[in-house]
Amino acid sequence: MNVSDSELMAGILTRSGHQTVPHLDDADVVLVNTCAIRENAETKVINRLKHLHHRKRRHPELIIGVCGCMAQHLRDRLLDAAPYVDLVMGPDAYRDLPVALDSLARGVESHVSLTDRDPFVGLRLDKNEDYADIAPIRKEGIRAWLTIQRGCDKMCTFCIVPFVRGRERSLPLKLLVEDVEKLVDQGFKEVVLLGQTVNSYHNDRADFGDLLYAVGEVNGLERVRFTSPHPADATDSMIDAMANSPTVCKHLHLPLQSGSTEVLERMHRTYTAEAYRTLVSKLRERVPDISLTTDIIVGFCGETDAEFMETYQMMADIRYDSAFMFKYSEREGTLAHKALPDDVAETVKGERLKQIIELQENISADINNAAVGGTVAVLVEGESRRDADRYYGKTDGFKTTVFPKADSHIGEIVNVRVHSTTAHTLIGQKV
Ligand code: 5AD
Repeated sequence: MNVSDSELMAGILTRSGHQTVPHLDDADVVLVNTCAIRENAETKVINRLKHLHHRKRRHPELIIGVCGCMAQHLRDRLLDAAPYVDLVMGPDAYRDLPVALDSLARGVESHVSLTDRDPFVGLRLDKNEDYADIAPIRKEGIRAWLTIQRGCDKMCTFCIVPFVRGRERSLPLKLLVEDVEKLVDQGFKEVVLLGQTVNSYHNDRADFGDLLYAVGEVNGLERVRFTSPHPADATDSMIDAMANSPTVCKHLHLPLQSGSTEVLERMHRTYTAEAYRTLVSKLRERVPDISLTTDIIVGFCGETDAEFMETYQMMADIRYDSAFMFKYSEREGTLAHKALPDDVAETVKGERLKQIIELQENISADINNAAVGGTVAVLVEGESRRDADRYYGKTDGFKTTVFPKADSHIGEIVNVRVHSTTAHTLIGQKV
């Protein structure tokens, strides 16, 4: 989502006469696009800013901006920690970027207090802002990200997103289909539809399943993916599209968060562990070979050993292809921060995380090993970073696959016979 928002900012700024440069050293302005989802995302940003500060000491005219969710979340603390920041801008205020840069540049020209000038702050949340008219500037490639929805209405108690990205809004279906047509014209082969709860998409009478079908039919598009759906919005219409539209990939990232109904209730996830299991059975029945991935939080407020074990057991039963696993990280301003004590000891969180990571590594390795001897369809994305004689790409189920280039080309789908695996990669030969 942040990659997509950075492309949007590049679109806004290009339209106003700015241009992106390949190297930091060539830049007059550096915008750091940030995430607020967990504490360590924020720590990374602070470190990054310190690094930029060194450069600014040598080049005081350098404009440093902090954009995105952390700007929205931590404006005051951020400016305390990094007083040299010139610009703070939240996710709904990017239209003001050109004005902000103009006014900062005017300050530079007139040598007004380069160090003490007030930063430009843009933090209004705007439930009508969907940037529908802005053409993002994307890097050339095979896969394009397309934001179809902004904000979130779900109010999970652990989550900062509704507070930093505002209310949910969907973009018009007709416009999105046109966007995809343009992306295909530009040479993209795969589109990833993005939204915080992407499958709650709705526009007039169209729902997410309708959008999947419509996008899937765009001529010349090879694959459609989407992330991240919410289990409570996994409607039959979405499942139908996954089962029937040949371009819609059979991969679903379905955040579980916890395998305990009690914890899910404290998280306001709006589904029970049982309902989630039933959904998984239905998906596997309707979409054979579906690849399932998930997000898990351990150590959420009040999580007992028994409740944690329910998560462990659920992961062991469902056998996800892969998972993103996190320790609960309390976020100021969330419902949990206000109402539920962050009372699981850090060491316990760490121990629980270690246990599920180990479990998941074994499951992922088993699933990969089972692919050995079979053939997978890989959309070729580019040259392997480790070996210039090999290409890499993804399977329909989103597994990275590496194989000798031979006579294949970037952008085509090739069949690869898998002969071995590493922890997270399939290795094979074109057939
Ligand atoms: N602490 C830990 N993990 C979190 N996530 C969201 N908020 C928090 C938090 N406060 C995780 C969830 C979500 C993913 C994007 O990040 O698992 O699905």
